[in-house]
Amino acid sequence: MNILGIETSCDETAAAVVRDGKEILSSRVATQIPHHRPYSGVVPEVASRLHTEWISRVVQEALDEAGLKPEDLDGTAAASQPGLVGSLLVGLSFAKAFAWARGLPFVGVDHVKAHLYAPRLAGEAEYPFLGLLVSGGHTLIARVDSFDSFEVLGATIDDACGEAFDKVAKYYGLGYPGGKVIDELAARGDPGAYRFPQPRLKVKRRPCDLSYSGLKTAVTGQLNQFLRPGYQWSPENLAASFQKAAVDMLISQVEKAVELTGITRVTAGGGVAANSLLRRRLAGHPGFQAIYPPLSLCTDNGAMIAGLAFPYLQRGDRSPWGLNAASRVRAFKGYLS
Ligand code: KG4
Ligand code: ZN
Repeated sequence: MNILGIETSCDETAAAVVRDGKEILSSRVATQIPHHRPYSGVVPEVASRLHTEWISRVVQEALDEAGLKPEDLDGTAAASQPGLVGSLLVGLSFAKAFAWARGLPFVGVDHVKAHLYAPRLAGEAEYPFLGLLVSGGHTLIARVDSFDSFEVLGATIDDACGEAFDKVAKYYGLGYPGGKVIDELAARGDPGAYRFPQPRLKVKRRPCDLSYSGLKTAVTGQLNQFLRPGYQWSPENLAASFQKAAVDMLISQVEKAVELTGITRVTAGGGVAANSLLRRRLAGHPGFQAIYPPLSLCTDNGAMIAGLAFPYLQRGDRSPWGLNAASRVRAFKGYLS
């Protein structure tokens, strides 16, 4: 079954063709980062406008790369939630129109579930596993038992981890997107230079919940001190100390999830999974086996959408033509039910 998957939930216009939920025949990702850089963040109106301009070309490229014609497809899919609604609507409407015009089955899929499916495309993650998803929009740890059976063990109660990287970098004028810049600076800094607090969550809904707003505030609040006359500070040390605190938080919640479930396979996904310290800490951990899909599958892509669509389409699921986009999915409580 050849499935076309479309992903436009944020600032990547992506399309891919995947066969039988595992064989990636093509994957094209057009990134909008240069267009959002002047604003140090994603501007929703700019994002949806660019998706509209780029979507036909990106889908055509995905078909060409796969060496397929539209009549060779057996189904289409698009991310329908969560994300920026204006952006989601572009991919969703395109996929629905394409499927309708071609008489193909169509299914809308959840972007977060698709991220958690991504390691399956690399063929390494047997169920059950723990999925750590850390990106600019999401931070969660889930027990994953099958393509549509999950339990969220913890999620951020405020900012996403990548968002904290981006905001710290923006505040200090280090560049955009912040994750990569901070990672690079941190390589030359001392992670022990400044000590930032780990959160103590008073009201936890789930055992592995996290919070990044306190860390973000502590790090940005440090700037006033740095600016005092004669005070010596280095962006490298700041980056290294912040990064250590951000990664420590993730590792300790993963350890807790392993302890709670007894599951020792841990996959990582989302843009922050590119972080070199997080990778080292997960890979070298004696308590579990870390599984990393290639980075192209960690960040937003169409292959994870096409991949996850396969088991749904195969069992006969179809979305109605009236399926709408949703920006959020009932917080995270009972979210992936
Ligand atoms: O998954 P992604 O490409 O897009 C979504 O947010 O959906 O993730 C982007 C996030 C940004 O916040 C970016 O700063 C962060 O991933 N990121 C990193 C690194 N590379 C990208 N964070 C930490 N270290 C990195 N090396
Ligand atoms: Zn994503």
